[in-house]
Amino acid sequence: MSLLAVEGLTVKYGPIPALRDVTLGMAEGETLAVVGANGAGKSTLTLAIAGAVRPFAGRITYDGNPLAGLLPEEVTRRGIALVPEGRHIFEGLTVEENLLLGLTARADQASARGALDDIYAAFPILLERRGGLGTRLSGGEQQQLAIARALLSRPRLLILDEPSLGLAPIMVDRVYAILADLRRRGVTLLLIEQNPGRIGEVADRVIVLANGTVQLSGPAAEVLASERLGAAYLGETRGAA
Ligand SMILES: Nc1ncnc2c1ncn2[C@@H]1O[C@H](COP(=O)(O)OP(=O)(O)OP(=O)(O)O)[C@@H](O)[C@H]1O
Ligand SMILES: [Mg+2]
Repeated sequence: MSLLAVEGLTVKYGPIPALRDVTLGMAEGETLAVVGANGAGKSTLTLAIAGAVRPFAGRITYDGNPLAGLLPEEVTRRGIALVPEGRHIFEGLTVEENLLLGLTARADQASARGALDDIYAAFPILLERRGGLGTRLSGGEQQQLAIARALLSRPRLLILDEPSLGLAPIMVDRVYAILADLRRRGVTLLLIEQNPGRIGEVADRVIVLANGTVQLSGPAAEVLASERLGAAYLGETRGAA
């Protein structure tokens, strides 16, 4: 059974669909990368799963239960965490205060302190900077903070929207090392990237979105080597899958 099933998902902002009839499934423990050009609908997909935008049509099922109508915090409590595009570090809060917000979404508060210690062990830069403002961190450090905050809700499914965007190459390396480690530990990952350059390192399967529709999908090695990738990226093979 799929951990996540998206069936016939259409999302509209006003009259124009940002996603049209998108269907995908994710097995527990797998890493699915969704790539596509600017405006393809990638973030909209993440927001629909996370309960932040309401679908116009279609179904999203997680662990056998429909997510329709749930508030974002209820979706988080079920085990889905989103690291949003742009990271969304809270202004005026320290690194640690930003992390503590991730703990409020956790069902089991008793283990909270231990969870924070585990996060500091995995992200030493956050321990070092814990008393400073989150917004004073570098881009790569902020991305680590956003991932760490999401992990504190102990997700089974972690969704990351363009985690490498705008980062220096050495920080992209760090983020991909974190993703590879999460994957090894069995966290199911939905990885959104505009640029497919690095996804081969972690993705089991790849879906290419263009103009709100799935253009190409399959095992990562096949899709990334496909002659159709470039055209699919540009939406020139609309209707093909
Ligand atoms: N809040 C909104 N109101 C109206 N239109 C929106 C809104 N958010 C997104 N759109 C439109 O929906 C389409 C898909 O946007 P989305 O942000 O999902 O794309 P994306 O693939 O994440 O792009 P990017 O790579 O730039 O992040 C675009 O045409 C965009 O302009
Ligand atoms: Mg986006």
